[in-house]
Amino acid sequence: MSHAVEGIPAIEFIGVDKRFGAPGSATEVAAASNVNFAVKTGEVVSIIGPSGCGKSTMLNMGAGLYAPSAGVVKVAGEVVQGPNSHVAFMLQKDLLMPWRTINENIEFGLELRGTSASERRQTSQRLLKACHLDKFGNHYPHQLSGGMRQRAAMARTLAVDPLVLLMDEPFSALDAQTKMILQQDLARTVSDEKKTVLFITHDLAEAVALSDRILVMSERPGTIVEEVIVDIPGRNNPMTRRKHESVGRYVAMLMDMLKLDANADVH
Ligand SMILES: Nc1ncnc2c1ncn2[C@@H]1O[C@H](COP(=O)(O)OP(=O)(O)OP(=O)(O)O)[C@@H](O)[C@H]1O
Ligand SMILES: [Mg+2]
Repeated sequence: MSHAVEGIPAIEFIGVDKRFGAPGSATEVAAASNVNFAVKTGEVVSIIGPSGCGKSTMLNMGAGLYAPSAGVVKVAGEVVQGPNSHVAFMLQKDLLMPWRTINENIEFGLELRGTSASERRQTSQRLLKACHLDKFGNHYPHQLSGGMRQRAAMARTLAVDPLVLLMDEPFSALDAQTKMILQQDLARTVSDEKKTVLFITHDLAEAVALSDRILVMSERPGTIVEEVIVDIPGRNNPMTRRKHESVGRYVAMLMDMLKLDANADVH
């Protein structure tokens, strides 16, 4: 179901503004302003920026849940006009359905598409394996740890075989070690399945470990102010990449771009 079109970005923001509230009213909020960037098929791009700068708003526009106030978002060259099957969303909360087993959760999107039961189960078995959950297909979400639930959410996101994965701080609620293991699983799967990822994080080392490129946003109304190409080998192996000598330099550069120093305000 991946609808990659050669030479056309997997996802593209062109002159995108987003305002909330009645225009001109005291409650109007400009969340994002003149956002322009494109992500190629197979690329992993992270977005970092201060809290409230419009990052989640941008992913919501990518997923077709919010419409831009100006400009367009395109997926596989087509203007996004509502939720569509080319993109899948993964959030900090796993959003698994507690009354369904892990298998049934992973299969849900395929069920909606009318995929046959045997094909659904085949997909879910493959992804359970890739996400190291082989033995847990018949368990219910409450029987799994937080890290395992996030893995199940990742398997569910991949099950519909989207062209673009939109990930909004998917690992931020996990402890540091579980997080690294999930990053490894994500990076491997994304490389094996040649997925395109747009990833939001506040964890600068995570952005460096996972990404081909990092986009830095300004304060609200957010716009892209810097682009950093991560020139470190092994994007499919963040555990090794994290140990590379230049990671610290990248993190320091990103901190400077975000103006994070001893005097930084807490937002
Ligand atoms: N549905 C909405 N209605 C009104 N205002 C909204 C809505 N969604 C977001 N906003 C506002 O838009 C701005 C950007 O919010 P957004 O959630 O995109 O920020 P963010 O960069 O994801 O922040 P964080 O890093 O804290 O998650 C905020 O001022 C927020 O209050
Ligand atoms: Mg957010």
